[in-house]
Amino acid sequence: MRVTSEYDHSYRTAGKGEVDDLSKLEFLDEQALINELYVRYKNGQIYFKFCEELNLSLIQYRQKNDIKNREIQEGLNIKNRFRSSSTYIGDVLIAVNPFKQLNIYEKEQHKAYSKVRFRSLLTPHVFWVADAAYQRMLFHKATQCIAVSGESGAGKTESTKLMIQHIIYLCKSDFDKELQKKIVDVNTLLEAFGNAQTCMNSNSSRFGKFVQIIFSDEGQILGAKVYDYLLEKSRVVNHGPGERNYHIFYYMFSGLEKEELDYYYLDSLENFRILGTSAGCKAYLTKSEIKYCKMMFQAQKDIMKRVGFLDEDITLIFTILAAVLHLTNISFCQDEETDGVYIDDEYPLEVVSNLLCLDQEILATALISSSNVTKGEKVVSLKNKDQANDGRDALAKALYERLFGWIVHQINELLQPNSALGEKLDLLPSIGILDMSGFENFSLNSFEQLCINAANEHLQFYFNEHIFLQEEEEYFNEGIPFDIVDFQNNEDLIEVFMGPLGLFALLDEESKFPRASDSSLVEKFYSHWKNSDRYVRSRATDLTFGINHYAGRVIYNAKGFLEKNRDNLSQNIIECLKNSNIEVVSELFSVERTESGSISRSATAFIAKPYLPSRPKSNDLRRQRDSFLQKRTKSIKKRIQTLKTNTIQKDKLNQVTVTCHFRNSLAELLDKMKDAEPFFVRDNFKILAEQLSLETTEYSTKIFKQKQNL
Ligand SMILES: Nc1ncnc2c1ncn2[C@@H]1O[C@H](COP(=O)(O)OP(=O)(O)OP(=O)(O)O)[C@@H](O)[C@H]1O
Ligand SMILES: [Mg+2]
Repeated sequence: MRVTSEYDHSYRTAGKGEVDDLSKLEFLDEQALINELYVRYKNGQIYFKFCEELNLSLIQYRQKNDIKNREIQEGLNIKNRFRSSSTYIGDVLIAVNPFKQLNIYEKEQHKAYSKVRFRSLLTPHVFWVADAAYQRMLFHKATQCIAVSGESGAGKTESTKLMIQHIIYLCKSDFDKELQKKIVDVNTLLEAFGNAQTCMNSNSSRFGKFVQIIFSDEGQILGAKVYDYLLEKSRVVNHGPGERNYHIFYYMFSGLEKEELDYYYLDSLENFRILGTSAGCKAYLTKSEIKYCKMMFQAQKDIMKRVGFLDEDITLIFTILAAVLHLTNISFCQDEETDGVYIDDEYPLEVVSNLLCLDQEILATALISSSNVTKGEKVVSLKNKDQANDGRDALAKALYERLFGWIVHQINELLQPNSALGEKLDLLPSIGILDMSGFENFSLNSFEQLCINAANEHLQFYFNEHIFLQEEEEYFNEGIPFDIVDFQNNEDLIEVFMGPLGLFALLDEESKFPRASDSSLVEKFYSHWKNSDRYVRSRATDLTFGINHYAGRVIYNAKGFLEKNRDNLSQNIIECLKNSNIEVVSELFSVERTESGSISRSATAFIAKPYLPSRPKSNDLRRQRDSFLQKRTKSIKKRIQTLKTNTIQKDKLNQVTVTCHFRNSLAELLDKMKDAEPFFVRDNFKILAEQLSLETTEYSTKIFKQKQNL
């Protein structure tokens, strides 16, 4: 559906806003629908369904200029189909983001949407879905899954939190109030580490999360488990203009006391490259942002303590975050004599070594050189400036990603059901809620958007499969006559991304060629997919290409795709970190990751205690600062037997790629959802909400703004 500025305002006045079930509208066309939504939205009614007796809604509003009639048509087809057959096919709720706090999540609503027998008597509500899932779980004693989908900023994370709150209310049990509170709290904690400001949402989830709440047969909560997917680790070292790094960094600077900042060798956030607003621009926080971040910092610390993190755990977390900040401040200079690089200012190097208890010389060596074993002989080669920058950033990303995985792992340890249940644990009923990064279409779309949008394509297919394909199959098997519904099947797009010759397979293949470039990659894409309606060759530059997604066309820029995909740490950096005197850091780089690259689900247990050896005070370091300059790496470099190559380090070409982890991660997630009974919440009305409510249009431009107003 196209929602444009030429919207006919006269239509608005015609709507009465009396219809919960949009299928009941006397005239059902685009304009009538928008009209009805508008009136209801203005009255604070943000939830809708489409076919009451079927609990089905299937309308979506997409990108401003890419919205097609197709989806409304799907809705109409379904309506016609089920008017005659009146069969239950699934639960779908649609929601419009209100961009303001509504008083519809109070005790009164919790009560009203509890054990609902006739849902048609109640206005649609997100609690309605939570209640249905809980009741069905109790009745069938089976795993339920709620898939929340929609574009970025549409309200998925908020819906997820509201549903968790309601499920906890529904248990109405004093059985383990502490545990229930912890389950609510961990969402806020994960947001601090996994959410960031983007152009579309000031609290955008940059990872996928599947929260599974585990119940006894009687419906009491026994525990919970968080599965994390696809953290956008590139954000740690780089983010687009107008965007920000992960929230936790800003919380730290606002919340840590002066002496704590000193302890982590931190001063002002303006001095840290990766916190800048865009390339070369320094970061800043307004007074109200500082106030908000300070409050959030305290909240995170309180949550961590409540959930069960030790003080030492918390110190360790901030130590690693500080190390990431200092590490990414290391810069390299080209050495004219040897073609290699040296570290410009060794102060951040010294700090990182102190924070992570690493041997400084070994770290410096690993940053400026790489080692490969060729024909049984170890060959050490100096990195050029680009390689050194990439290696440093790969380490910063790995530190952050592994820390994130470790936090999820700790959360799961602390929230797990009583292990005395033994094997029975796997048979317990549960409700899982999936909330992942929404579909994105920025002015510049890169590898990260390609991954996020491919994952959303899968989720859409999962939706189609349950809503259309499985039903058609059942009708067919039961010999019930039915009209084929002309829905947009995106199965071919799954092939474009994930097939044996799909974009990700081609990217992986190209990543293994030392001489490949981003431009040769785009050529490869083109040669395989030129005949597909889904692939668009762009003439603008040779690095851009377009994909006609289910949600509209997105133009991607392949600059940096190969490097982002290889993104592997060289072996000597891994070895260096493994030798850290902080056992947890050493473990982070020693434990075996799963095929999806996950640390949190690693089969190897984390056993180390978060012991932190004492280290020099920041003042002591600063006093010596001048003497660090350039000396050490210059001398290290001289000692290295150099075999200078400008090609990519060989160990990088043979390691598992980001794409490989991404594909396995997605497969793991879909496998988890495969056997569950699904519900769908589609928070797809952000654009509509923005169009209809003038006061929300500036919403996404200021960090934390809406939160401060809540
Ligand atoms: N039900 C709601 N009530 C009040 N505000 C809401 C509601 N839903 C969403 N919002 C507002 O919209 C913002 C964006 O919502 P949210 O972060 O849930 O989007 P999202 O779909 O998870 O986006 P992304 O894919 O980027 O993570 C929230 O920070 C909040 O301010
Ligand atoms: Mg989100």
